[in-house]
Amino acid sequence: MGSLEKFVEKNKILINDYLEMYIQEYTREGRLREAMLYSIRAGGKRLRPILVLAGLEAFDEDIAKGISTACALEMIHTYSLIHDDLPAMDDDDLRRGLPTNHKKFDEATAILAGDALLTLSFQVLSDDPLLSDREKVYLINQLSRASGPKGMVNGQMLDMESENSRISLEELEYVHNNKTGQLLRFAVLAGSYLGGAVEQERTEMLKMAKALGLIFQIQDDILDVTGDAEAIGKPVGSDVSNKKSTYPKLLGLDGAVEQKERYVHIAKQALQNAAVEDSLLSELIDYLSQRSN
Ligand code: IPE
Ligand code: IPE
Ligand code: MG
Ligand code: MG
Ligand code: MG
Repeated sequence: MGSLEKFVEKNKILINDYLEMYIQEYTREGRLREAMLYSIRAGGKRLRPILVLAGLEAFDEDIAKGISTACALEMIHTYSLIHDDLPAMDDDDLRRGLPTNHKKFDEATAILAGDALLTLSFQVLSDDPLLSDREKVYLINQLSRASGPKGMVNGQMLDMESENSRISLEELEYVHNNKTGQLLRFAVLAGSYLGGAVEQERTEMLKMAKALGLIFQIQDDILDVTGDAEAIGKPVGSDVSNKKSTYPKLLGLDGAVEQKERYVHIAKQALQNAAVEDSLLSELIDYLSQRSN
């Protein structure tokens, strides 16, 4: 097993245990808790929390310090998926290999489970005894920026607005930098911040994060065309049926692959500039670019 695989295997368990614990501790028994746990337990790659912890590890800091941040970020990501699948948005029936939250429960419950995961993320961060007040304010500020109206929610709005229309590559990258890029950027930012990276290293890490976000989204778009529904755990062809602007639509499949390779190069260069090219992050870039799920 490669070192990334070992790191992921070990830390996925840790993250899942903490997510479970936080939700049990901070919710009342009942339908809302069940709906939150349903989407969290459905799994997923846990890429964003892994990225937070891999950042701490790259800068030789104890990962315990990043657990609440990693979980807070995964809660926000999961909320964004629950809402993304709603009939008013992408109207999808399958997520993480299971019926989507609104299919399993109902629309109102899915909306509220999303709302609850979003707000719980900030509560969990602000309650973490391992973080100083200064660290909490910084992380909460950055996480709310990344998730909010100039971040992921902005990207989701633009993604909806660009349905049925042909946008330029530049506009598409802007949508993706918001829709997907901002949460990944936060993962890298938080990992480097808690890991104690100096200013110049953090700047390089943010360059890496931007390229990583685009690599991730190009592959997401490619998998929507060439993927296997069972492996990706969500329907194939959703973008085409929703008339979404995607990389394969704009550049063709080969063009999308070439564009992805360009970003892999940029991301690795940035890691080198931050002197962490030997960390797991390098393997993570390759994995994200080649992933089949
Ligand atoms: C899917 O994200 C949604 C996008 C941002 C494109 P992931 O592919 O990370 O989904 P999970 O967490 O593994 O289910
Ligand atoms: C969703 O993007 C991104 C967010 C939820 C922020 P997509 O709509 O492309 O994600 P999938 O393909 O449904 O996972
Ligand atoms: Mg969507
Ligand atoms: Mg979707
Ligand atoms: Mg997609």
